[in-house]
Amino acid sequence: MSHEFSLTSIPDLNSRYDIYGAVHKGLRKAGCDLLGRLGTADFQNAEETGFLIDDLRNYLMLAASHVNHEDDHIHVALAAKGVSTVTLDEQHDDHRTAFHELEELIAAWERAQPLHKPGCGRKLYLAFAAYIANDFAHMHEEETVTGPLLWRNFTDDEMLGIEMRIIASLPPEKSMAFMRIMIPAINPAERRALLGAMKRDAPPEIFQAVIDFAVRPGLSARDFAQLADALKLAA
Ligand SMILES: [Fe+2]
Repeated sequence: MSHEFSLTSIPDLNSRYDIYGAVHKGLRKAGCDLLGRLGTADFQNAEETGFLIDDLRNYLMLAASHVNHEDDHIHVALAAKGVSTVTLDEQHDDHRTAFHELEELIAAWERAQPLHKPGCGRKLYLAFAAYIANDFAHMHEEETVTGPLLWRNFTDDEMLGIEMRIIASLPPEKSMAFMRIMIPAINPAERRALLGAMKRDAPPEIFQAVIDFAVRPGLSARDFAQLADALKLAA
């Protein structure tokens, strides 16, 4: 996987549809939060660490699902325009290898005798740090190189269509899981836009479930109050 990327040629994202933005912010923040927790975990305490391992497996499941969505919807659309996605496809294959290896390290920690659990936890911590380092470089390439390629080949409406096809392909519980990592990771204007559109377009009971299970638990009382005010949510 290439780690060569430019820090200065970051395109202006303001004017065009940003298909990667919110979900990548969610993956970055959740990955950093997990890395912090893996760094402070007492790996000998299997009961306490079990909750962290559940969250880690949930994160890896979402990350694997995200890679597949990009393959099936974004790469396929680019290929239909004659644009090669070979490098990104190879990076996604590296991700799939990493998901498999991380699961093996988790299982090794679970199987280990108490004396060996801290050593297994240390390996898992280092492996997860290396995985997100690769993933951050990869997402940077997607947002600074692939994003502009998408803009050259598709209108904003066509890109919205691609994103809507991804969302429509998700079972409700997975949509909810993505919202839970995305909402705390995006800024107030992005929250207002995303949830304003959902309030307008989604069935009221679905919108309310998103507010109750993905929005309210992930925001501070102040951030939630500001958002509720902007969206005119019933108190
Ligand atoms: Fe990707």
